[in-house]
Amino acid sequence: MESNLHIPESVAIIMDGNGRWAKKRGLPRTMGHKQGCTAIEKLLPEASDLGIRYLTVYAFSTENWKRSKDEVDGLMQLFRFYAGRLLKAATEKNVRIRMIGDRRRFQPDIIESINRLEEETKNNTGLTFVVAANYGGRDEIRRAVMRYAEDYKAGRVSADAFAGPDAKVPEGELTEEGFAAYLDTAEIPDPDLVIRTSGELRLSNFLIWEAAYSEIVVTDVLWPDFDKDELLACIAEFNKRSRRFGGV
Ligand code: IPE
Ligand code: IPE
Ligand code: MG
Repeated sequence: MESNLHIPESVAIIMDGNGRWAKKRGLPRTMGHKQGCTAIEKLLPEASDLGIRYLTVYAFSTENWKRSKDEVDGLMQLFRFYAGRLLKAATEKNVRIRMIGDRRRFQPDIIESINRLEEETKNNTGLTFVVAANYGGRDEIRRAVMRYAEDYKAGRVSADAFAGPDAKVPEGELTEEGFAAYLDTAEIPDPDLVIRTSGELRLSNFLIWEAAYSEIVVTDVLWPDFDKDELLACIAEFNKRSRRFGGV
């Protein structure tokens, strides 16, 4: 199947259904998250071999803090455990890691390991693996506006960010590209394909600016059961879509 598929450059995944996976087995939710980590660990090198250039995964939303302390603590412990393994895997596969979301809310040791993952992989030239943690699309836009306003006040916004005579916005106004440079996803191409597992038909605050023209594929498979074949099935579905971007 994979040989005649067009592989999208930028793929983003809402990894949902860990809780339901655990519940079906009578296990605590945290076991679902653990199995979910295994699923992403297996998928990363496969996505890289398929030729995907940017893989973004929704790991923890700005709304997920509402969950029980036990569940949130469990997720933080899993992050601590997987950070080291991720660095090793990224190094082996020439993968560059980026984190999007507001990392300031995490414990200092987690912030430090996020910084380290980015720093030690920044010169890798293979797939870029983007992890969305304490990420919310609205929060990302809010923070971008704050930073833009600060730069504007200080006279630090480059003239390129503003429209010239040929732009689609009035001359002198901030362009979409100029604004997007303030988002966490600056320099990461907008997702061609957004996959959501476990059947829910919503974005849940994921990449709300960036996914404006993404193709959305929803599968009923629960995240811990998602594998390379499922990914290929989602890409096959993507291949059937006709992307028009507002044209005809
Ligand atoms: C996704 O699985 C993982 C996170 C949000 C951290 P869920 O934990 O949302 O699983 P369900 O939706 O309850 O099955
Ligand atoms: C989205 O899943 C967040 C992540 C996958 C990290 P949720 O389970 O939090 O979303 P809702 O609550 O079903 O919208
Ligand atoms: Mg969920």
